[in-house]
Amino acid sequence: MINRWLVAFLMLMTVSAFAQKKDMNTTVSKLLQQMTLEEKLGQLNLPSIGFDVTGPILSQGVEEKIRKGLVGGVFNTFTPSAVRKLQDLAVKETRLKIPLLFGYDVIHGHRTIFPINLGLAASWDMDLLQRTARVAAEEASADGLNWTFSPMVDIARDPRWGRVSEGAGEDPYLGSQIGKAMVQGYQGIDLSKNNTILACVKHFALYGASEAGRDYNTVDMSRVKMYNEYLPPYKAAVQAGAGSVMTSFNEIDGIPATANKWLLTDLLRKQYGFNGLIVTDYTAINEMIAHGMGDEKKVGELSLNAGVDMDMVGEVFLKHGAQLVKEGKVSMAQIDAAVRRILEAKFKLGLFEDPYRYISEERNKTEIMNAQQLALSKEAAIKSMVLLKNSNQVLPLNASKKIAFIGPLVKDQRNLIGSWSGAGDYKKAVSLWAALEQKGGGYLYAKGCNLLEDENLLKRLNAHDGQITRETATPEQLITEAVATAQQADVVVAVLGEAFGMSGEAASRSMIGLPENQLALLKALKATGKPVVLVLMNGRPLTVSWENENIDAILETWFGGTQAGAAIADVLFGAANPSGKLTMSWPRNVGQIPIYYNAKNTGRPLDENQKYTTKYLDVPNTPLYPFGYGLSYTTFTYGDLKLDKKSITAKDKIQVTVTVSNTGNYDGVETVQLYIRDLVGTITRPVKELKGFKKVELKKGESKEVSFTISVEDLKFYNSDLKFVAEPGAFKVFVGGNSQEVKEAGFELK
Ligand code: BGC
Repeated sequence: MINRWLVAFLMLMTVSAFAQKKDMNTTVSKLLQQMTLEEKLGQLNLPSIGFDVTGPILSQGVEEKIRKGLVGGVFNTFTPSAVRKLQDLAVKETRLKIPLLFGYDVIHGHRTIFPINLGLAASWDMDLLQRTARVAAEEASADGLNWTFSPMVDIARDPRWGRVSEGAGEDPYLGSQIGKAMVQGYQGIDLSKNNTILACVKHFALYGASEAGRDYNTVDMSRVKMYNEYLPPYKAAVQAGAGSVMTSFNEIDGIPATANKWLLTDLLRKQYGFNGLIVTDYTAINEMIAHGMGDEKKVGELSLNAGVDMDMVGEVFLKHGAQLVKEGKVSMAQIDAAVRRILEAKFKLGLFEDPYRYISEERNKTEIMNAQQLALSKEAAIKSMVLLKNSNQVLPLNASKKIAFIGPLVKDQRNLIGSWSGAGDYKKAVSLWAALEQKGGGYLYAKGCNLLEDENLLKRLNAHDGQITRETATPEQLITEAVATAQQADVVVAVLGEAFGMSGEAASRSMIGLPENQLALLKALKATGKPVVLVLMNGRPLTVSWENENIDAILETWFGGTQAGAAIADVLFGAANPSGKLTMSWPRNVGQIPIYYNAKNTGRPLDENQKYTTKYLDVPNTPLYPFGYGLSYTTFTYGDLKLDKKSITAKDKIQVTVTVSNTGNYDGVETVQLYIRDLVGTITRPVKELKGFKKVELKKGESKEVSFTISVEDLKFYNSDLKFVAEPGAFKVFVGGNSQEVKEAGFELK
């Protein structure tokens, strides 16, 4: 019976999808027939208007251009009134009344800000990631927007690159799951609803692999590496139905992504079957002049022929498109195809039916920063925190003890929302101090140091709203005062880290430790002999070897968003138990970078007793904290792995079971991780690859069996012909609470 209903329902859905597609074709084709070439090129134009920009060109005279039908969409404009004003121009004053798209960088929340994406990823909680994207879409759409430039799914193995804060970290499998969850959260199942928005997968492709971690730098890698290690998250997010893709600033095989026909047409459109719209990154077409690809007209030609649909800010298509068509360098069919995809996106969003669909003063009042949305922000902040160290169970703090909170970030609000905080208002962020006061207060406090002393860095960050001020007291005086405060306490909590502008776009660092003046404070606090807890706020893995050696407990809180302080207070005092796990390896020092868990073996694997084996003379090969790592207030132990078979054929599945026990004193959540190693292949294979994970809740003293099913699909990889294959032979399977400490077993694929 149920099946019959299901079949009927699915048939109805198929019929209605078919009808909708037919409608869309009719609407779009009709418009295309009426459009002049100038109007068509107008649709390809995406200027920025409004509140902020990330690049050098501020689009000029946008309103006039909208009136003339020379704009397809705008970004950086939101609020119902601002959006209505521009949409009015488009649908009331242009000849064909085509509505505009309204885009914005809604990256980790719109007004309610969630932890930075690297923090969200550390939750390993796909349901949470989907819910945070859903709320971001609810708020953005209640603020007039219908398009977000997210998710950013660039795999990153170099923490010097500031944009690691925006992504999911180093792993293609986890990155794929997260990309998918976010697309589903933003777009829901029906894009035409007034609270779902178009997602944009970025930055296609390989942007995270820029040399030396310097932003916008050259990328060069083999196809095998691309396909196996860097491309999977883009593919997964596209196949989850993302409506748009953004090109990246970097080159691929010597051709910038924005002019790379192989990338945009052969791979994205033909291999991945992507039929949504391709937008460039900010002035990425114009920037190809500096890349050495030709003059403005030439780079316009290259990008149109590569398959770009929409030009962000650069106005190259608008300026040169007609001439390119006239000279036969770009075909009319190519232009029509681009226009079609933009109009289709508008159709899918329901804008032809109602151009004001996303403009509602009413929703703006009730669906932004409401109680549920704020509660989700706190939940996300709690779930993103990673406990890196906890000697002698210093944490959770004993509330009856005298506790001193010390550091420039204790009372800070400005930095809590991180970079790319959309329309977030830091003044609405709950500082740690405010949360402590709310819990009854009575704690000791000293600032201890300024966030930064480095003049050069201060100047750079403050030019971009860093708002970093310095005390009139000297650094020595601040430390002396902090030490005196610490001496009155039983436990010291130092709250230190980066300024928000030290990570994010154009925020690469060659040294990624705590700023020197902060480290000096920490050393002085350590010298008091009091137990010290370090609470970190930052946007990337840091080098904290000294801290790990010397400080009793370390809690990574990232930039935790609007409710950061409340969440941190809950975790510090044990109202919540940390459960986050790192999704990027933390190096011991910068010289180890790039360092990532899914590396290849060498022909001379490490043997400390042999000279000619792979190693450094001055630092171990392992990271300080590996991928997947994170402690809890309780402890978990893993039993031996049980496999239901010793070998499988391509048709079978193998079940791996392990008993996980909570052996400590608190209820807790563990993320059980499954890794596989393919021991022999026609190409070399990584020493471990994540293939599954499960979050399990375990009460104090409780044990649970956790099972994973491995099928031949999990054993596949791209071989040297770029065919996705599984090769028969021996495999290892590992299960554990991080990528280094695992139980292992073996099986064979026949
Ligand atoms: C960034 C993109 C962003 C765009 C629009 C660029 O500088 O690379 O990630 O979506 O600006 O703000």
